[in-house]
Amino acid sequence: MMYYLKYLRYLFRSKHRRGFGIHSPFVFHLVTDVIEETLPYYKYSLIEKVRHLLLKTEKIVFVEDFGTGVSGQRRISKIVRRSAKSKYYAQVLFRLVNYYKANDILELGTSFGLTTMYLAAPNSKSNVVTMEGCHEIAEYASLSFRRAGFDNIRLCEGNIDGCLPDVLKSFTKLDFVFFDANHKKSALLSYFDACCKKSHGKSVFVIDDIYWSDDMEDAWAEIKKDTRVRVTIDMFTYGIVLFDPELQKEDYVLRFFPNLKECILDALNVNY
Ligand SMILES: C[S@@+](CC[C@H](N)C(=O)[O-])C[C@H]1O[C@@H](n2cnc3c(N)ncnc32)[C@H](O)[C@@H]1O
Repeated sequence: MMYYLKYLRYLFRSKHRRGFGIHSPFVFHLVTDVIEETLPYYKYSLIEKVRHLLLKTEKIVFVEDFGTGVSGQRRISKIVRRSAKSKYYAQVLFRLVNYYKANDILELGTSFGLTTMYLAAPNSKSNVVTMEGCHEIAEYASLSFRRAGFDNIRLCEGNIDGCLPDVLKSFTKLDFVFFDANHKKSALLSYFDACCKKSHGKSVFVIDDIYWSDDMEDAWAEIKKDTRVRVTIDMFTYGIVLFDPELQKEDYVLRFFPNLKECILDALNVNY
């Protein structure tokens, strides 16, 4: 199905805006006070300054193909424009990490590290590991982390398919995982399964681009059916997964509507 048609279908299906129709008091609170919260945090502007700089960087880097079919020389500004999450979505990650007081955090797919910094910003003592396969991009991300003063981020360079088992050994538990790397069903499901082994009742997993392709949509459908999963929140761009055994098993479709421009960009599958 065409991407914008999937978006229209999502708008049609999504009943829950501003918590409307959510019976679980906990999920209601999570949606209204965390996911949809709009207060500015002072760290946001620091990270957005880094984005601004990257968007002005015309240098060319070599992008390796890790299952997306995209490889070759690319302008940094263009990669950031196309593949980094917008500030609205990146800030949802910040608020979730902040709310859950997540300490052990893993990100699959660093790119230039904008979402990584949002994951690391709530607590300078947290342990954030981010994985990126593309060497030149990883170097830029590391530079941004140093320049912006993020000492709690460790970047693991290499193909996630091979490196993930060793990276997972370094965690006793995972409080938060952001999946934003290989957008193939088999890869996503195997990463998800591996990470689930380190999850606990208060873990939160966020999966990016759940409607990016039919393959990703199938993977999302399987994750929703997984018996380890209690609650899922479909925001179209993100799928949020909660494991808390005290929550009743339920799949919510939340109409996340930061502004009209963002929604049009969502429907067209571009960032900005
Ligand atoms: C969509 S970008 C991540 C964007 C970033 N999370 C943000 O919003 O700022 C995905 C990144 O994952 C990396 N990637 C994809 N598959 C990978 C794999 N199998 N191993 C390592 N890196 C991979 C790509 O090189 C790319 O930089």
